[in-house]
Amino acid sequence: MKVLTVVGARPQFIKAAAVSRVLRSMPGVQEILLHTGQHYDENMSAVFFEELSIPEPDHHLGVGSGSHAVQTGHMLAGIEKVLMQEKPDWTLVYGDTNSTLAGALAAVKLHIPVAHVEAGLRSFNKAMPEEINRIVTDRVADLLFAPTRTATGHLKNEGLESATRFTGDVMYDSVLFYRDQVLKGGDKYATAGIPGEYFLATVHRAENTDVRDNLAGILEAFGAIRGKIVLPIHPRTRKILAGNFTVPSNLVIIDPVGYLEMLWLTLHSVKVLTDSGGLQKEAYFLGKPCITLRTETEWVETVHDGWNTVTATDPARIVPAAEAPLPATPRKDEFGDGKAARIISELLSGM
Ligand code: UD1
Ligand code: UDP
Repeated sequence: MKVLTVVGARPQFIKAAAVSRVLRSMPGVQEILLHTGQHYDENMSAVFFEELSIPEPDHHLGVGSGSHAVQTGHMLAGIEKVLMQEKPDWTLVYGDTNSTLAGALAAVKLHIPVAHVEAGLRSFNKAMPEEINRIVTDRVADLLFAPTRTATGHLKNEGLESATRFTGDVMYDSVLFYRDQVLKGGDKYATAGIPGEYFLATVHRAENTDVRDNLAGILEAFGAIRGKIVLPIHPRTRKILAGNFTVPSNLVIIDPVGYLEMLWLTLHSVKVLTDSGGLQKEAYFLGKPCITLRTETEWVETVHDGWNTVTATDPARIVPAAEAPLPATPRKDEFGDGKAARIISELLSGM
């Protein structure tokens, strides 16, 4: 059985690493890896292939950045060509980026079955490009791997129950797989110049980088928080900050880091402030309270007892959440049992 996996953006390398490891160990399964080139900086792409032992892509489209239509259009044309050449039994796509949408659309038009990892996530906010990508991908896919019961519920409500399988979350698998390695590694995964005590932050969502008031609100809040804030900065955010905003003096801006370094930074932080989907979950898995710099979250399971506080970009909500006491109640186990990659691989290979 031949599976063609489409990846292109940072979180997809991390998710695909967990599944590829298992998929490639299964007898009779051949995985072909296609990298669209959506992310291309060394620290947004190559670092993950090296650290997580992801095999070299068999096909690299080198699409790069562009408007949604231009970027997705180039991907569609490139993926179609590869699909016609490789003729896989399945196309496997991850998450909700433009690479996800392009992979699903190119395959379904060629009548190649599509499987979607992280299906059923909904923010119910169509202004987010990711929401459009998810809805369309789920609608055309043949197998929907849902990470949470909330996701299976959304798919059922949309009439997609028969294609849905609850698998748990592959990012939970990854955290369980690498956490001990990072903890035992001492300072091996520490990033130079990090203060002893800090909040960890990431910001990259279009609604935060492209709306001036939102980014200004986040920076004002960061400046008002007592303590250092370490920000591994997404290239999108770096470009927008440059020359346009005053950066508060307690903000320690560093280049994007690898996955293991990011786990280290999360494990040693006081709390996490982010608009990332993946980092919200990792904070939860690693027992760090999260402040979500968005108006809503898809990961509603994390929002209880102070473990995840959804504040949008309002300093009056962000600062008290950052300074609130640490949660006293335990977290819940709602992301599967750390075997999502195996369940997905077995379902795909028909075992
Ligand atoms: C994309 C996904 C988003 C995901 C994020 C993960 C879409 C619509 N968005 O957002 O869902 O959360 O990836 O990080 O697919 N850039 C570089 N170097 C790179 C990559 C990007 O400089 O290696 C800069 C470019 O200026 C580019 C901008 O970042 O225009 C945005 O990149 P893009 O891939 O379009 O979207 P992300 O914001 O990364
Ligand atoms: N991440 C990383 N280095 C960084 C910032 C994030 O390895 O400098 C990891 C993070 O730990 C998580 C994933 O990237 O595993 C999340 O990706 P991102 O925030 O870019 O996208 P999203 O999850 O919001 O789609």
